[in-house]
Amino acid sequence: MGKKVSKKMKFHIKTYGCQMNERDSEKVYCIFEEAGFVESGIEDADVVVVNSCAVREKAESKIYSEIGRIKSINKKAKVIAMGCVAQFNYEKLKRVSDFVVGTSAIDKFYDIVNNIESKGIFVYDKMDNANYIFPHRKGINAFVDIMYGCNNFCTYCIVPFTRGREISRTKESIIEEIKQLVDNGTKEVMLLGQNVNSYGHKLGYSFVDLLYDIDKIDGLERLRFTTSHPKDFSSDLIYAIRDLNTLCEHIHLPIQSGSNRILKLMKRGYTKEEYLEKVYLYKEIIHKGSITTDIIVGFPTETEDDFQETINIVKDVEYDTSFSFKYSKRPLTKAKDIEPQVDEDVKLKRLNRLQDLQASITQKKNRESVDNIFEVLVEGKSKKGNMLFGRNRQNTVVNFEFKGNIKPGDVVNVKITKALKHSLVGELL
Ligand code: 5AD
Ligand code: SF4
Repeated sequence: MGKKVSKKMKFHIKTYGCQMNERDSEKVYCIFEEAGFVESGIEDADVVVVNSCAVREKAESKIYSEIGRIKSINKKAKVIAMGCVAQFNYEKLKRVSDFVVGTSAIDKFYDIVNNIESKGIFVYDKMDNANYIFPHRKGINAFVDIMYGCNNFCTYCIVPFTRGREISRTKESIIEEIKQLVDNGTKEVMLLGQNVNSYGHKLGYSFVDLLYDIDKIDGLERLRFTTSHPKDFSSDLIYAIRDLNTLCEHIHLPIQSGSNRILKLMKRGYTKEEYLEKVYLYKEIIHKGSITTDIIVGFPTETEDDFQETINIVKDVEYDTSFSFKYSKRPLTKAKDIEPQVDEDVKLKRLNRLQDLQASITQKKNRESVDNIFEVLVEGKSKKGNMLFGRNRQNTVVNFEFKGNIKPGDVVNVKITKALKHSLVGELL
């Protein structure tokens, strides 16, 4: 008789949405692995997790179609719905899944892995595990949550309802997590929060204080953060970018609209002029700094003139890249009741115009990078031939010919020889 081999349980995770969701999925991945599960495709999985996004209607609908698809491929798999849709629409999801896990209950996966044959709904208003250090997968780059939730209630946004009120993690917990990462080979950390600039308000310790303390960690090569809210973005942060070695010269500063009337209706808390003043200061102080943004087109009542103001601000700032979206009506938000809503075809035309403009600006900026030398943190092998890829401090992907014994995690200087649509090509110096 052969030795009895106990079969390992298999799991699969599908993730939609933002970097916060990516990080949450990573936590879940590690919890499954630590419990002895192995990753597999959907067909073979004993359990499939879907991490959902609720920010736009189209994203929300994906979780329902994805669960249907999973059931058609693999009837036997347990289905776990998690993420933003799970948090605010668990009634609907519990009918089609075995477990529903809200955004503040990731720690419940430690129980789920031991009771995978049961069922459960774990959706709570408040997070009680904010300072728990969840595990990471090994890698050159890592996401680190510094705060959860949002208090801003921009009138279009469902996030305050899916991720709850703002809660900052303690300095001790964040620093300890980053130290552990660096000990395990991580070189670059991206700090995550819906509005990192309001970090620590209740702790008497600011976001900039935190950056100064993280910068001191031995062995950390690069530090990034996202997302900044323009209303809380302060000049001391710009000086920190100038003065801290690890802190990269890139800001993501969502403008959302270039029209003051629309910004007010969105309840963003700044005017176009106040926003531009911060951008000009950043450009003046930070040499070769990059700037990216988020824009919504077709917010209720947006006219052609309002939209033109958005176009003008994009031309003025010359964003390195921008993420633009058609306004999507969301439940629970104030903007869903603002009339008139903008026709879908008008939104689409505006989106295309904006995206064409951005593509030409991105290309122009990429072309201007030719002959410049950038510091690149090597991340891995490129899909193209015998090349490696990494990103410069500005966050643009740079591909370059493999030479010598360069390996992921190394920091090298690369001279740019060619500009592509979304990336750069260069030669190692
Ligand atoms: N419709 C379209 N885009 C939205 N965003 C947030 N809510 C909506 C909505 N209802 C965009 C914003 C935000 C980004 C993450 O998603 O631009 O910055
Ligand atoms: Fe949404 Fe505004 Fe909060 Fe960002 S700051 S998550 S857009 S409510």
